[in-house]
Amino acid sequence: MSGAVPSGFLTLPSIDDALAREIQAELDRVEKLLHDTVEASDPLLNEAAAHLLAAGGKRFRAILVLLAARFGDTGNPDLVPAAAVVELTHVATLYHDDVMDEAELRRGEPSANRRWGNSIAILTGDYVFARASEMLADLGTEAVRLQAQTFGRLVRGQILETAGPNAGADPMAHYLEVIGDKTASLIASSGRFGAMVAGADPKVIETVTRACDALGMAFQLSDDILDVASETDQSGKVPGTDLREGVLTLPMFHAQRDDAPENARLRSLLGRPLGDDETAEALSLLRAHPAMSAARADLEGWANLARTELATLPSCPARDAFEALCDYVVRRTG
Ligand code: IPE
Ligand code: IPE
Ligand code: MG
Ligand code: MG
Repeated sequence: MSGAVPSGFLTLPSIDDALAREIQAELDRVEKLLHDTVEASDPLLNEAAAHLLAAGGKRFRAILVLLAARFGDTGNPDLVPAAAVVELTHVATLYHDDVMDEAELRRGEPSANRRWGNSIAILTGDYVFARASEMLADLGTEAVRLQAQTFGRLVRGQILETAGPNAGADPMAHYLEVIGDKTASLIASSGRFGAMVAGADPKVIETVTRACDALGMAFQLSDDILDVASETDQSGKVPGTDLREGVLTLPMFHAQRDDAPENARLRSLLGRPLGDDETAEALSLLRAHPAMSAARADLEGWANLARTELATLPSCPARDAFEALCDYVVRRTG
């Protein structure tokens, strides 16, 4: 929800005070740049493009850029635009994702598609992405290439999810490929971008990228768990969106494996589009199923993978903050 990580995460006792103040000051500059960048002369486009930024968001990817830069020279003036670019790319994908998922709420506000319809929502996502690309052009060809590759991977993930697994393919392996492409790609590139802009040692850049890739997997797994477990006042989204759309996610794979007769009803509700009553029923059955604990254990496994990578980095307040982010991703409720 609004400001959840900037105010919540940075004030955790495990985050060094001086580091938290520095990052917060940079985030404030990122915030201004985000709003200035999406301003448009057309009133409708102006309102639609400001809509999701004004609604809140955790700025998780911007924080990753800024934190990863701590492994190099943080004085580089490109850092704040780099953080804004990844955040704008993320926001652009949210406009499109809510169309695809027919989502009603985003960041506690009506989604752009609900408010203005699919065409305006799609075009606004394109516009935000165009503005991000324009800013990116000033950050050099390596940055442009990274962004283009990342966005291509993200779109591939969304397409793979929409198409579903090929006949005979392992649905769980397909799911992991989907979340790697649609979510871990941008989260890994956020860390990479920050370390790259700050001129960090090439080995450190690779380690930060691997750590953020695992963190990104954990982030999407926790998003999928929250889609079942969390209420709107925490997540700012409508619970059960994946169940309603018939999208299979980690808790559902675990529930599908339970072939006990008393689980037959839940199994019959998974992986196909559901109406209101069926969504509510599936949500309550899945919430009570041990599949939720199994999914949480998998989530912890990905966070541990990130922690193992982080442990090889030089010890410093930024490394501690990254470790705290791993804990945050496992425990988050929104
Ligand atoms: C939501 O991302 C989309 C996913 C890839 C899971 P966030 O949970 O970072 O959304 P905001 O930016 O805080 O709204
Ligand atoms: C979002 O995946 C992935 C991207 C935006 C690329 P979801 O559809 O699972 O995310 P939420 O739950 O709507 O935020
Ligand atoms: Mg969605
Ligand atoms: Mg989606």
